[in-house]
Amino acid sequence: MKQDLHSKPFDETTKAKLAIFNDYLIEWLPVFTKRKDIIWKIINIYDFFAGPGFDSEGNKGTPILILNELKNHFDAIEQNRLEVNLYFNEFDESKNTDLKKNVLDNDGFLPYNVRIEKLDFKLAFDKEFSKMAQQGQANLIFLDQYGIKHITTDIFKKIINLKQTDFLFFISSSTIKRLSLIRL
Ligand SMILES: C[S@@+](CC[C@H](N)C(=O)[O-])C[C@H]1O[C@@H](n2cnc3c(N)ncnc32)[C@H](O)[C@@H]1O
Repeated sequence: MKQDLHSKPFDETTKAKLAIFNDYLIEWLPVFTKRKDIIWKIINIYDFFAGPGFDSEGNKGTPILILNELKNHFDAIEQNRLEVNLYFNEFDESKNTDLKKNVLDNDGFLPYNVRIEKLDFKLAFDKEFSKMAQQGQANLIFLDQYGIKHITTDIFKKIINLKQTDFLFFISSSTIKRLSLIRL
């Protein structure tokens, strides 16, 4: 059986993936929170395969990277009266419990809303889809699945047809090699 990503320290490839994600977030957020003329008052960030928040050594996973980077935008969020909604989904029972502890563990007011669910990806995506498609909102969708099976043609088409939506979607090079998607 494949060993679980979070039961050991993240390896170098996972760290590289997380660094790409973090760099993307650093560039993406100010486009919506700090632009001169704010167009979208509602910003939604979806992490559909969120994990528990940390690896076994306390290295940050995507939910915690999102929370950390958002700190640099608190003033802008308040000044521009933005609504920021974070959605984390993780279907594994124990990881979901840890995710809740790690993400909701704060004292005091924070200028964003958080929802955490424990659903199979397809159910979560279908449930959220109508919200993502609403006018006047900007969406960032992050899809960090194991393998590639969850992002079907139907889901991919739905995502690329959404307005004001950016998405990041990781596929491991081993999957690409195995399926001979491209020659490496
Ligand atoms: C590659 S890891 C994501 C890692 C996470 N981005 C991080 O930084 O720690 C994939 C996660 O998706 C969860 N998962 C796998 N299949 C799922 C499904 N069908 N629906 C929801 N979550 C799923 C796994 O339990 C695992 O925690």
